[in-house]
Amino acid sequence: MDLADIARRFGTPAYVVDEDAVRARCRDYLAALPSVTVAYAGKAFLTQAMASWVAEEGLSLDVCSGGELTLARSVGFPESRIIFHGNAKTPAELRDAVGVGRVVIDNVAEIHRLAALVPVGLRQDVYLRVTPGIEAGGHAAIRTGSEGQKFGIPLTELSDAVGRVLSQPELRLAGLHCHIGSQITSVAPFEEAAKVMVDQLAMVRERFATTVPELDLGGGHGVAYLDDEHGLDLGHFGTAVPKVVAERCRRLRVPEPRLVVEPGRAVVAAAGVTLYRVISVKRQGGRTFVAVDGGMSDNPRPALYGARYSVAVPGRSGEPVTIVGRHCEAGDVIAENVAAGDARPGDLVVVRVTGAYHHAMGSSYNLTCRPPVVAVRGGTARLIVRREEPADLMRRDVGR
Ligand code: LLP
Repeated sequence: MDLADIARRFGTPAYVVDEDAVRARCRDYLAALPSVTVAYAGKAFLTQAMASWVAEEGLSLDVCSGGELTLARSVGFPESRIIFHGNAKTPAELRDAVGVGRVVIDNVAEIHRLAALVPVGLRQDVYLRVTPGIEAGGHAAIRTGSEGQKFGIPLTELSDAVGRVLSQPELRLAGLHCHIGSQITSVAPFEEAAKVMVDQLAMVRERFATTVPELDLGGGHGVAYLDDEHGLDLGHFGTAVPKVVAERCRRLRVPEPRLVVEPGRAVVAAAGVTLYRVISVKRQGGRTFVAVDGGMSDNPRPALYGARYSVAVPGRSGEPVTIVGRHCEAGDVIAENVAAGDARPGDLVVVRVTGAYHHAMGSSYNLTCRPPVVAVRGGTARLIVRREEPADLMRRDVGR
């Protein structure tokens, strides 16, 4: 697809997502992990179209809010393939979640809260989310597996939590869960986490004479944002992690659990680009600033995580410039050292690998309108999320 055409037709800024690439990536996952349940983590990017693609490709779906659950249900995503997460599920969310495939319990108090909501005669499948004590991931803000952060049940309290779940006739302990972090590019931390988790399956079997049928190792599979980076090797993950689990299960004499993974970023990041237009070019303080018509409202990741991107200004080259956004903050920088010294207002700017945690984390900061999402498939482009309009921004402001 000609991105310049898309920019002309749909305007800028715009998110573009390659449906064929997303679907191909879903199939890669199923092929690399044939006996593993792959649940796409909707927090990375969720629209009705995306939920439908994931459903059609046969993946499960991890949702982490009532909003994501409502969206999934709006396209008829099969309930049995939905995993519901959250460390602070509201009473309304918990009530709404009853009936999905798996509810992931984050803390001990939630066991009783959930059990009280399950209708008589039904049994809700649950996972217990465990903090396995493993540090991994791209940035401190997205490391979630160690103690001293808010998620999950510490290993020392797991036995108590298991006992409580088993004593609730409304609940069935379907599995243990952990998520050690995000943007992890090597397989080793997942192997480590898998070992710790199998040890816990053995603990449960020993103390409660119960077999836990599933083990969810969460998401966090890293991707390459820049040309000289590499993402998690899916083929390696797909052979190494199930093998580690199988071997340890054999050694500890526990039946092998069905494995589950929850990749978000790795399914969709590389399938997306963001299109902007240059608004102004200025040289000051020895630097050239190329300012575009979007910024930290559609991509907060540089400001939040120091994220770096590969940016192209097609047809331009030369001295390195700094691509900045339009927002009222000096930290609103999209990328440094982009070879585009001859950029001019009106030029197209393409930022790669923006399919995950961009649309999903967008805001209307400075009362700017959120970009549309354009999907391309088989050489044609269509709108799947329309551009926000000033009227949308005003709608909830009820005046004085
Ligand atoms: N499962 C659980 C329980 C999670 O908390 C997450 C992400 C995932 C799966 C999916 O992780 P992924 O495969 O996408 O790494 N906003 C940050 C990333 C936050 C990830 C939060 N949890 C970013 O833009 O880098």
